[in-house]
Amino acid sequence: MVTIVVGGHFGDEGKGKIISYLAINDDPDIIARAGVGPNAGHTVHFNCKTYKLRMVPCGFVNEKARLLIGAGVLVNPERFLLEVEKTGTKGRVFLDKRCGIIEKKHMEQDTKDSHLRDKVGTTGSGSGPANAERAHRTLKLAKDFPELKEYLTDVPLEVNRAVDSGKKVLVEASQGFGLSLYYGTYPYVTSKDTTASMAAVDIGIGPKKVEDVLVVYKAYTTRVGEGPLENMITEENIDDFPLWKEIYLEAVKSGIKRKSVNETLAAHLGEKGTVTGRERRIAAFDTKLAKYSAMINSATQAAITCIDKLFPECAKVRDYDKLSKRARDYIEEIESEIKVDIVLISTGQDVNDIIDMRNGR
Ligand code: IMP
Ligand code: MG
Repeated sequence: MVTIVVGGHFGDEGKGKIISYLAINDDPDIIARAGVGPNAGHTVHFNCKTYKLRMVPCGFVNEKARLLIGAGVLVNPERFLLEVEKTGTKGRVFLDKRCGIIEKKHMEQDTKDSHLRDKVGTTGSGSGPANAERAHRTLKLAKDFPELKEYLTDVPLEVNRAVDSGKKVLVEASQGFGLSLYYGTYPYVTSKDTTASMAAVDIGIGPKKVEDVLVVYKAYTTRVGEGPLENMITEENIDDFPLWKEIYLEAVKSGIKRKSVNETLAAHLGEKGTVTGRERRIAAFDTKLAKYSAMINSATQAAITCIDKLFPECAKVRDYDKLSKRARDYIEEIESEIKVDIVLISTGQDVNDIIDMRNGR
């Protein structure tokens, strides 16, 4: 059984939270990281500790699971080794021998090239330049690096064997649909496709082996870096969004006030990039993009995160019926638009602040 978890908007949907919950609750045998590379920043709050992960799968919170990084994922060896140490996962975390390696020169290109830095607004992690070098067929691979030797494996072989013997595999993708090199808001995108099919390729399984595709959305849409953002909340349009007006006034009341309405909202909601520390732009939920991404991902299930940030009265609620009526209406409207069942609702930071409706509401 394979479940792939992907982002439905522009990344930072809260995949880390959802994946760590599934890792603990569903007890998968293998948790495999797909996606672009260390440009991703997944935040996990577990046992009163916060982990900001860019390489090690967020599912590490399940101490029995085998953790794999697929061949499609770029690896920054220094960052990888640091996270292995921080998460205490040595001995159960492995990467494919064919993972592309990010070197200093790639990070330098990513931060110095004005097209990448200023126009695209990249994370500076070296991912784009490394993928460009892979396409040029000069990029070095994990098997060329002695310090990674003890971590190398054949990820597709492991994953396919596990699936064939009835084991559970949880696949964590990174970034989000709107950042796909093919289907996103080109050229303001990342250096690879970000849909579920790509995640399957990243870890080396065919489409027929995937049982579930869970698309994660945040209750509102955010974006870090450049590129268009539908219904971004501004001075000009906030009066058209009563819920946002209410949140804004709440922010100001609590003493938060920045240069613009949008920056005030970002500060109030705690929307700051995990990798870069840049403040994210805030927008109303982008239903059109959500629907389109559900289609291209062939979503079988959806999750909504940060519902407590829009509706503070829902913080830490673990029962659907205990959500406020306005929150339930909000969720049900999204569900009827995207036409995918919303089966997980996150109501707080902690792994267990969640409503799980996979066995009915
Ligand atoms: P790159 O992936 O570093 O090349 O950056 C390209 C674009 O994707 C920039 O707008 C980044 O901010 C964005 N991006 C890349 N990875 C993530 C992510 O994990 N979350 C949110 N945005 C991302
Ligand atoms: Mg992130």
